[in-house]
Amino acid sequence: MTAGPGETPSFDRDIKNLFRGSDREAMLGAFDLWSYDDVSKHAAPILERLQDGTMPCDGAWPPANVAIFARWVAGGMPR
Ligand code: HEM
Repeated sequence: MTAGPGETPSFDRDIKNLFRGSDREAMLGAFDLWSYDDVSKHAAPILERLQDGTMPCDGAWPPANVAIFARWVAGGMPR
């Protein structure tokens, strides 16, 4: 299940699974993309890199996925 249009996405249900195992491994030196605490703490730079298309390094996310992440941030980053 994903969050409906009027609903705030949650980390466990909607955000964590957007990050591949290979994303997590590539970024472990900076933060753990499968950790709620790390992703919420680094949400601003993560969102910036998703929006400017420079992360992931092997190709930008589809705009719909970037929008889900942006909605999660705007909604207060529920776990
Ligand atoms: C959705 C997945 C990813 C997100 C959200 C992400 C996010 C970020 C962020 C926010 C930074 C800046 C970190 C800082 O300055 O402390 C960064 C840097 C970096 N990431 Fe990722 N990353 C992702 C996937 C990947 C992948 C798949 C690779 C390559 C295998 C990669 C390689 C790098 C490298 C080499 C840097 C340092 C150089 C730079 O800032 O461009 N990342 N990433």
